[in-house]
Amino acid sequence: MIKLENLKKTYNPGKIEVHALDNVSINIEEGEFLTIHGPSGSGKTTLLNILGCLDIATSGDYYFKERDVSKLSMSDLSNIRRTNIGFIFQTYNLIPVLTAYENVELSLMLAHRKYKKEDILNALDDVGIKDLAKRFPREMSGGQQQRVSIARALVKSPKLILADEPTANLDSENATMIMKAMKEMNEKYNVTFVFSTHDPLVMSFAKRLIKLKDGKIETDERK
Ligand SMILES: Nc1ncnc2c1ncn2[C@@H]1O[C@H](COP(=O)(O)OP(=O)(O)OP(=O)(O)O)[C@@H](O)[C@H]1O
Ligand SMILES: [Mg+2]
Repeated sequence: MIKLENLKKTYNPGKIEVHALDNVSINIEEGEFLTIHGPSGSGKTTLLNILGCLDIATSGDYYFKERDVSKLSMSDLSNIRRTNIGFIFQTYNLIPVLTAYENVELSLMLAHRKYKKEDILNALDDVGIKDLAKRFPREMSGGQQQRVSIARALVKSPKLILADEPTANLDSENATMIMKAMKEMNEKYNVTFVFSTHDPLVMSFAKRLIKLKDGKIETDERK
């Protein structure tokens, strides 16, 4: 599904260059559940941003479902993002003035999808918070808010879900719950998940572990 070849990302080209990614090559198959780990500054977020078409590489190739991402226009990129990719963030990034239900609904509207009320309620149910549909983010715990953000990502039936340190703000009980919910969704819908993390708990759930160091792949192990 994803093929990265000799990917490089250099920030500040021509000035004080930072080689955030340095010759990264990875193949990711549909249905994988993988984490990217490594020290702070090793390039995890940079890699996720490129995978999510939020940023482009300085050189190298990125194929998403056989399409050469570097040759796509801005509007094609944003189309891929809206329809094929779901994002989960460390700080949930829910819209504070929208309820759980409306936050999930917004993601369908942005993807120009036809949908029924049940689609939204099913997504909330999948992550165990259907009864919180009418709550606003401020009325929910961190773990509950993160489950809304998983429902928001899932409701579009994306091929790929990217999560940058999804458990960083959660205690271990909530982090376990979040990881279990994502694993279930991975198994139920065969959605591909890629996480970045520092958290051993997240790593214990992964089926594949990629370790970055100074922008290079140090190890790539399957369990
Ligand atoms: N917009 C930017 N401009 C310049 N340098 C950047 C930019 N974003 C990241 N960097 C640098 O690129 C390198 C990789 O950063 P990145 O955020 O990908 O690391 P990370 O592995 O996600 O770290 P952390 O675990 O702290 O989140 C770092 O040296 C960082 O300082
Ligand atoms: Mg990061």
